[in-house]
Amino acid sequence: MRLTLPIALSLSVLAAAASSQSIGDLTAGEKVFKNCAGCHQVGDTARNGVGPVLSDVVGRVAGTYTDFRYGSDMIAAGVAGLVWTPDQMFEYLENPRDFLRAFLNNDRARAKMSFRLRREQDRLDVIAYLASFEIAALSSNICVTNNSDESYFFAVDDGGTASNSRVTAQLAPGESLCNAAKNPTGGFVSVFENAQALEGCSRLVNAGESDDLVSYAEFDRCRWVSHSG
Ligand code: HEC
Repeated sequence: MRLTLPIALSLSVLAAAASSQSIGDLTAGEKVFKNCAGCHQVGDTARNGVGPVLSDVVGRVAGTYTDFRYGSDMIAAGVAGLVWTPDQMFEYLENPRDFLRAFLNNDRARAKMSFRLRREQDRLDVIAYLASFEIAALSSNICVTNNSDESYFFAVDDGGTASNSRVTAQLAPGESLCNAAKNPTGGFVSVFENAQALEGCSRLVNAGESDDLVSYAEFDRCRWVSHSG
């Protein structure tokens, strides 16, 4: 799923990162991506092909997408600290081999990606396109599970600004409640003794994370456990 709303955010991220360069155009980038699509997939159902999935590539440590067989030099670059910021990708796409050689300071480094994208504007555009998936990837669920042995009233706030940013439910032990995160920095979950209670326990949760309530003692005294997914 791609959201249209947070695109301004991804563009400002790019603007900050690509400082001296002009900003990429998302729609144009979608067209440029046709050059990549023979080897790379994006979106919810993306799978590895000749190249790795690129849905959440912005911010990824190079060479780390699950179950893709990278070249040893790409893995070495990730180990040496290469993260795919828009700036790094901009350089990489121009000439993957030269980029890896320079980054690793190794004249014999090899790139498994043979494709080169020379036009600067094409590179900016395709990066803007890929960054829109990065934001969508952040916009995953925030969940809470009642892992205590009593029933309580829960709320999950999506971190957005809409008036309906929160879902609530009475959860029996073992039950969960989720909400689609609207903010890259996450939202929060709360638990109350019952639906009428005004005070309970709250906790900030990152997008894509789940929190388990382990026990509820009283206002502001709860035990939680966080985990991803
Ligand atoms: C002919 C196939 C092919 C094409 C076309 C291609 N790539 Fe790739 N790409 C690869 C392969 C293979 C790798 C893995 C490189 C390695 O392991 O050295 C890769 C790696 C990458 C990575 C690093 C990902 C990671 O997880 O570290 C990025 C970013 C990338 N490609 C972007 C693009 C973009 C954007 C385009 C289109 C403009 C494109 N590629 C076109 C085959 C391709």
